[in-house]
Amino acid sequence: MALLTITALTDSVGAEVTGVDPERLAADDSLARSVLDALEDTGVLVFPRLGLKPEAQVAFCRRLGAIDHSSDGHHPVPGIYPVTLDQAKNSSAAYLRATFDWHIDGCTPLHDECPQKATVLSAKQVATRGGETEFANSYAAYEAFSDEEKERYGALRVVHSLEASQRRVNADPSPEELARWRSRPTHEHPLVWTHRSGRRSLVLGASADHVVGMDLDEGRALLAELLDRATAPHLVYRHRWSVGDTVIWDNNGVLHRAAPYDPDSPREMLRTTVLGDEPIQ
Ligand code: OGA
Ligand code: MN
Repeated sequence: MALLTITALTDSVGAEVTGVDPERLAADDSLARSVLDALEDTGVLVFPRLGLKPEAQVAFCRRLGAIDHSSDGHHPVPGIYPVTLDQAKNSSAAYLRATFDWHIDGCTPLHDECPQKATVLSAKQVATRGGETEFANSYAAYEAFSDEEKERYGALRVVHSLEASQRRVNADPSPEELARWRSRPTHEHPLVWTHRSGRRSLVLGASADHVVGMDLDEGRALLAELLDRATAPHLVYRHRWSVGDTVIWDNNGVLHRAAPYDPDSPREMLRTTVLGDEPIQ
């Protein structure tokens, strides 16, 4: 018998999982395996009103892979990072305004770390207005290319930077801010990521600054056009949060962004990140 009851949410990305016991999710290896398989198939899994406790969320994620502890210290439970614009709950909140633009987590790491494999968010508090999270399937975006586009775009390389993603939400940084952004190395990635599985996805989003060897403006126009195509409504699932929802996404093949919400909103998501082991290549 299948371990999970899964219902597709759109034709291209996202599925809902029901009937799961949160304690079992934290304690059962075969269930974790089924979640990873379902994630590979659907890109995003939604567990409505699961009520997963922070400790159980970390235990669950540990069954999916090694988890990221580099942002510990903002929440009492190690492995949990609060995603909120409230500086009182997270002193690094200012950076999170960049989540309003489409992105893939971990395209501009401190060193040469691979992008995260998967990210889990659980809603502790939700926004009264806005604050949905949107997901776009970038495997499907690649598949929609013509053969000629697959060949042409398959050869492109793109430089990603923290500065590119921060500038979109903070166009006029102080010299100190700029210096902090620039202390993070830039990274050159292929536009098309060929995964171990043989599938291909697009590496696009806020951190993508320019196309190597192309006129700057032309390259940026191309990146914007490709992002528009990759995030066309038929490739997107938009999650409207209820308190207690848990969502997990495949950070290798899915772009995501938060819909705008009031900076004074109490919205708070508890995030746990499963580290990746697949370089963008
Ligand atoms: C993230 C992120 C979006 C949101 O946690 O990486 O992009 O809706 N979050 O809060
Ligand atoms: Mn993100």
